[in-house]
Amino acid sequence: SAAEKGGYPSFMLKEIADQPKAVADTLLGRIGGEEGELRLDEVRIAPSVLREVDKVVVIACGTAFHAGMIAKYAIEHWTRLPCETELASEFRYRDPILDQRTLVIAISQSGETMDTLMALRHAREQGAKVLAICNTNGSTIPRESDAVLYTHAGPEVAVASTKAFLTQLVACYLVALYLGQVRGTKWADEIRTVVRQLSEVAGSVQRVLETMEPVRELARSLADQDTVLFLGRHVGYPVALEGALKLKELAYMHAEGFAAGELKHGPIALIEDGLPVVVVVPSPQGRSVLHDKMVSNIQEIRARGARTIVIAEEGDETVVPYADHLILIPATPTLLQPLVATVPLQVFACELATARGNEVDQPRNLAKSVTVE
Ligand code: G6P
Repeated sequence: SAAEKGGYPSFMLKEIADQPKAVADTLLGRIGGEEGELRLDEVRIAPSVLREVDKVVVIACGTAFHAGMIAKYAIEHWTRLPCETELASEFRYRDPILDQRTLVIAISQSGETMDTLMALRHAREQGAKVLAICNTNGSTIPRESDAVLYTHAGPEVAVASTKAFLTQLVACYLVALYLGQVRGTKWADEIRTVVRQLSEVAGSVQRVLETMEPVRELARSLADQDTVLFLGRHVGYPVALEGALKLKELAYMHAEGFAAGELKHGPIALIEDGLPVVVVVPSPQGRSVLHDKMVSNIQEIRARGARTIVIAEEGDETVVPYADHLILIPATPTLLQPLVATVPLQVFACELATARGNEVDQPRNLAKSVTVE
């Protein structure tokens, strides 16, 4: 009903708008102990067990898998534990190496995705400990896991996941930092810094939402296109994949995400005059090598006729000459950037789908929760 949609024309638009609150709610009560520590006692795997972990494996499907890809960067950076992220539907068929020292993280909004459930059962049979990151209280995946960290996105109704994704990212960052805290691989002051930055992100997401009118206008102008490509690097790569997935799900368009470094190994052959390419530009601070490589990629595709849609941080002047359309997002630490960079891509896909006359909450052929293998 209209009331359930809170005055928005669709659940998806409401859920996009709910994201600052969803992010804040997922942090609530979990950060900022006396020493600025994380308080994740709810993760019922003993610290002594977490200290013995020698490998992390993240399993998920769909949008949750993209959150898992980003988790890998955070976990390896903050804990120095090797981490791999794998599609749940591929995982158990390759006879993965798992034992008591493996921590498996299963990410699922619904907690009912059959492939993710089967993968976690397989992992537990091999003795691995499983931590679920889930949005649905009491659902099957958390019930069958050793521990759960709930995301507090609230019910997500639209089939295409938005607020659940942002809260999955928050939960992944919390788990990564918590592992660093418990294992003593990260200093308290670094954890404190990131925790503070995380608590500022909800405000940044709100600011992005307030500046989306030009993105909607751009989306409407692309309603007759057949293809949109997305490029990213580092954590911007899963963001590009997520942007492409949203466009497939909602606009039924051919959309593909690529790691920008792979351009010259194939995707650049797709570039032709007027082809829209969305580029997620890494933060210019800190890892400037990454940033500069991306700026050359934008130049390369533009020289071949691409219509560049550039998502970059406010104040990043270097990209201005190469951007046919510039979408500015607030400056955010590199690892946390997906929390803000994904939002314009959600708005873009939702608006484009609407312009093409599609029903955004119930896209054709898709289900909110896939309970078959
Ligand atoms: C379906 C939904 C997606 C979701 C995926 C995984 O494909 O349409 O939005 O990302 O399942 O679902 P889960 O509930 O496990 O996160």
